[in-house]
Amino acid sequence: MPDNPTPESAATELMVPRSAGSDLTDAEIAERVDALLAEMTVAEKAGQVTQYFYFNLPPSEEIEATLNTDFSRQPAMVETALSEGKVGSLLFVTDPAEVNRLQRLAVEGNRHGIPVLFGFDVIHGLRTIMPVPIAMAASWDPTVIEQGQTVAAREARAVGIHWAFAPMIDIARDPRWGRIIEGAGEDPYLGSAVAVAQVRGFQGEALGATDRIIAGPKHFAGYGAALGGRDYDEVNLSDYELWNVYLPPFKAVVDAGAGNIMTAYMDLNGIPATGNQWLFTEVLRQTWGFEGFVVSDANAVHNLATHGFAADLTDAGARAIKVGIDLEMAITDPAYAHLPEAVEAGLVDEQTIDASVRRVLAAKIKMGLFDEPYVDEDRAREVLADPSHRRVARTAAQRSAVLLRNEADLLPLTTPSSIAVIGPLADSRRDTIGPWVFDYDSSETVTILQGIRERAGQDVKITFAPGIRPAQRTFASMFDMWGDNAPEDPVDFDDTAKLEEAISSAREADVAVVVLGEWQNMIGEAASRSSMELPGEQLALLQAVAATGTPIVLLVMNGRPLDLRWAADNIPAILDIWYPGTQGGAAVADLLFGDVAPGGKLPFSWPRTIGQIPMIYSHTISHEPDNQGRRYWDEESTPLFPFGHGLSYGRFEYTDLAMDRERIQAGDTVTVSVTVANVGERAGDEVAQLYIHQRYGSASRPVRELKGFQRITLAAGESQTLRFPLGPDELRYWNAATKDWVIDTTTIDVFVGGDSNAAQTVSFDIGS
Ligand code: NOJ
Repeated sequence: MPDNPTPESAATELMVPRSAGSDLTDAEIAERVDALLAEMTVAEKAGQVTQYFYFNLPPSEEIEATLNTDFSRQPAMVETALSEGKVGSLLFVTDPAEVNRLQRLAVEGNRHGIPVLFGFDVIHGLRTIMPVPIAMAASWDPTVIEQGQTVAAREARAVGIHWAFAPMIDIARDPRWGRIIEGAGEDPYLGSAVAVAQVRGFQGEALGATDRIIAGPKHFAGYGAALGGRDYDEVNLSDYELWNVYLPPFKAVVDAGAGNIMTAYMDLNGIPATGNQWLFTEVLRQTWGFEGFVVSDANAVHNLATHGFAADLTDAGARAIKVGIDLEMAITDPAYAHLPEAVEAGLVDEQTIDASVRRVLAAKIKMGLFDEPYVDEDRAREVLADPSHRRVARTAAQRSAVLLRNEADLLPLTTPSSIAVIGPLADSRRDTIGPWVFDYDSSETVTILQGIRERAGQDVKITFAPGIRPAQRTFASMFDMWGDNAPEDPVDFDDTAKLEEAISSAREADVAVVVLGEWQNMIGEAASRSSMELPGEQLALLQAVAATGTPIVLLVMNGRPLDLRWAADNIPAILDIWYPGTQGGAAVADLLFGDVAPGGKLPFSWPRTIGQIPMIYSHTISHEPDNQGRRYWDEESTPLFPFGHGLSYGRFEYTDLAMDRERIQAGDTVTVSVTVANVGERAGDEVAQLYIHQRYGSASRPVRELKGFQRITLAAGESQTLRFPLGPDELRYWNAATKDWVIDTTTIDVFVGGDSNAAQTVSFDIGS
C-alpha cells in the first residue's frame, strides 16, 4: 500500500466479506418475533420500544442545567431499567467492555433474554475521523463516500455498535443553520447520491453483513429549513418543495434499503414532525413501503407535550406510536414508559405497539444479536488500530478539498525555500477533525502545520505564528461543555506581539499559508449563526499578512460558506479544506505540493453576504430574468462562487455535446454525451455536471437542475467521452396543480460543464 493511496487501492484493501446478513428468511424472522411477542406483557413491549442515552460523563452542573436533566441519576436509572427488561436500545456507549457489561445486564435482566441494540452518532467516523459530511459531499465521489462510511461501520461494529444515526440527509439551503455541515448541501440530486453511497457504506449488501451496521438516515423531514436558520425552530414548507427538494434523498435511502429512519425535532407546517401522521404513515410507510424501524430524535416524543401538541406524556407516547415512531430516544422519563397506561385508557391498542416491537425485534434478529450479543474486546482494539482506515481518511480529505481560486497558478507550490504558516486553526488538532466526534484519538490527528512540515522536509524553512487568539461563541452550547470542544482563550497572549510575529514571519517567507475559518464548535447542532463573517480578528490578520506582499494561499476550515468577498478579490489562491479529519494535514500537504490535484466542487451556492440567504442555483426564472444578478441595489445578487464550482491543476474543455435522439416520449430515456479534455499542463480532476431546464409546461421549472455528474481524472492532454442517461426519474417532477408527479410535453435544455453556470447546451423534445 503506498503512503498516498488512490481511491482504488484504498478500496481493494477494504474489501470485506459481504455476508448476506442473517440467514433467516423474512418468514422465519416473523415467526421468531411472533413467538417472543406472544410471551410479552405490555410493559415488556414498552421496554422494547424505549431507547436510553447512557452517559458516561464526568459530573457537570453546567450540562445538566443546559439540558435540564439530572445526569447523576441517569446511569443508575438506566441500569435498573436494563435489569428489569425495560430497555430496547442504548446510545452513547462506545467502550466495548461497557457494551458487554450493559448487554449482560439486559440479556440476564429480561426473562426472554432479548439483547439491546446499541446505536451511536457515527457521523464521520468513530476513531478514524473522515472529513465532515459536507466535505465528503464536496468530493462528488460516491466511491470515496461509501469507503468512508465502510471504515466508520467497521470501527463501530468492532466496539459493539450496531447502528449509526447517520447519514444526515436534510437538504440545507440556509447556511445560518449549523447542521448544514452534516448534510450534502442544497441539491436533492447530489443529496440523494451522497445519501445512498453512505447507506451502502454503513450497511453493505444487506442488514447484518459482516463489519457493517444499520444506517439511520435523518431527520424526517424538512429539518434543514428551520425558520431563520435557527436550529430546532419551526419549518413551513410547501408540498412542492417537500416533494421536489426535501423528500427525494429520503425516498432514495428507502429504496436503497436503509434499516432505520430518525424523526426531526421541529414542527413541520404546524404539526410536530415526530407526531406527523402524514409523514410517517402516509408517505414513509404507505407510499414508499418503508419496512425498517423509525426512531425519534432525542426526547422528541417527550417533546410532543413540550410543543403544546400532546396533553401529557401518556398522550405523547400514544400519539407517536400510532403514527409509526417505533422507538423513543430518551434521556430520562420516556413517554413510552406510559404506554401500558395508554392502553388501559384506550388511547392506543396493543396491536399498534406490537407492530413497532416487531420491527425492533426483527432488526435485532437481522443483526445477529440473539446469536452473539457480545463483542470481542481484543478484536475491537485491532480493528481500531488498522492503518488502512487512516489511508482512506487521507484519500477522502484529498478528494473533498475545493480549490476556489488559483490566480496565476500559485498552486501547486513549486519549491519554496520558506513557508510561513499562519492562523490558530493551522495547528489545532481538535478543529482539524470538526464537530460530532467523541471517540477520536487526538494523537493521531495530523494538523495542517504538521502535514506541511512533514511533506516539505528539512530543506524548507517552516515557521508558525497563530497571529491572533481563538474566537469564542457568545453563547455556549451543550457540546462546548464536553471535553475539549470549546477552544481555550490563552492567558498571557500578547495580541500586539503575536500579530507582529505573524506579519514578520510572512514578510520573511516565500509564501504564506494562512488558515482561517470557524472553530469547530461554531458549526453543527445548536450552532446557528446570524452572520457569515470570519469570526474574531481573522480578516484583520489576513489583511495584515497580505500587506506584506508575500503571496498567500488561504486555507478555509469551515462547514458553511463564510464571507470571503475581500479574500476573493485580494488573495490569489483559496483552497476550501473544510474540517478534513484525522489525516487532514497530510492530505492538505499532498494538495499544496501537487502530489494530488484538488477536484472537489461546492455542494452549495456560496453567497457573498448574509443578506442574500437563502440563495440557490435552482431558482425559477420569474419576472425580468435579465436582472437576476441585480435584484439588490447594494450588492450583486449572484453567488460569490456558484454551486458546483471548483478548480483543479488541469484545465478542462467540453466539446461534442450531443444526444442520441432529439425527441422522446414521456417515459423514454435519452443519452447525452460530451467529451472532456484536459488542455492544461498538469493532471487534474474534473466533475462534469449535467443540468436541465424545462422550457414550458404545466408548472414553471427551475432555471437549472442538476441531473447527472461524473468525477474523472485526466492527465495533461488526455480526453474522455462521458455519457449521461436522462430518463423518467430525471425528467419528472411533482406538480403543485395536479398534486402528482408529471412529465410534461415540452422542450428540455441540457447544459453540461464544470459548474452550475455550464454554458454548453443542446435540447430535445418530449412528445405526448
Ligand atoms: C439530537 C440530534 O438531532 C440527532 O441528530 C442525534 O442523532 C441525537 N441527538 C442523538 O445524539
